[in-house]
Parts: sequence; structure tokens; C-alpha cells
Amino acid sequence: MTALALEARKRARAPYSRFKVGAALKTRAGEIVTGCNVENASYGLTMCAERVAVFKAVSEGLSDFDVVAVVADSKRLTPPCGPCRQILWEYCGDVLVHMADLRGRSRTMRLRELLPMPFDGGHL
Ligand code: THU
Repeated sequence: MTALALEARKRARAPYSRFKVGAALKTRAGEIVTGCNVENASYGLTMCAERVAVFKAVSEGLSDFDVVAVVADSKRLTPPCGPCRQILWEYCGDVLVHMADLRGRSRTMRLRELLPMPFDGGHL
């Protein structure tokens, strides 16, 4: 998973922040879909690596995800941002979130730990 996220990170389009991120999302059945961040000159239109992976996977008809890996190069491990946590919760539920960097450091947490008391369809 980390290796695939690392490979996807190389395809990141991050000319504005220069902060490249790669993600890989796995189904319980073993299919893996990757994503990278895709930035835009109108900064707010930028899409994070995690959401690219989720939207790619969902649009391909995949479901029942169990792990997402995120790879970036930063002093501290990069967790999914707030909006990505919300999107991950919606489509992936309480997945394992594996965070890694280029130096081989890593940490795995459950999405529920990163997004306590999530808002979801159950509230509507
Ligand atoms: N970014 C991601 O792709 N995923 C994250 O979890 C954090 C932020 C991207 C968005 C933007 O292209 C760059 O990193 C700097 O924020």
C-alpha cells in the first residue's frame, strides 16, 4: 500500500504548494486504487490525494474499503485533512489510516480516532 501511494505521489501536480501527496485505498477484496493531489491556480479547487483515490474508486463501482495509505514528505507524518476525513468516513467508514513518509517512518490509526463524533447520514 505504501509503495503504491509512493508511486502515485510521483504523479502529484503540486506546482503551488510543492507539497506532493500520494494515497492508496484498498477494498477488503484486495483491489487497490491510488490518488495524488491535483492543484489548480485557483487554489481552492485543489483536490487532495485521498479524495482523488476515494472518488476514483467509488466512480469505478468499488466499495467495502478497509485501508487507506497516505505518503508525504514532511517533518511530521501527514494525516488526511479535515474534509478528506469526512469524505473517507462517508465512503469507507472506520478504515485503517496508514501514514508514512519518505524516510520510512509510519503510523497507523483508525479513522474514528482522527474523526471522533463524525457527522453522517445517520443524523439526517
Ligand atoms: N494535501 C493532500 O493531498 N492530502 C492531505 O491530507 C493534506 C493536503 C495536499 C493539498 C495541497 O495540494 C497540498 O497538499 C498542500 O496543502
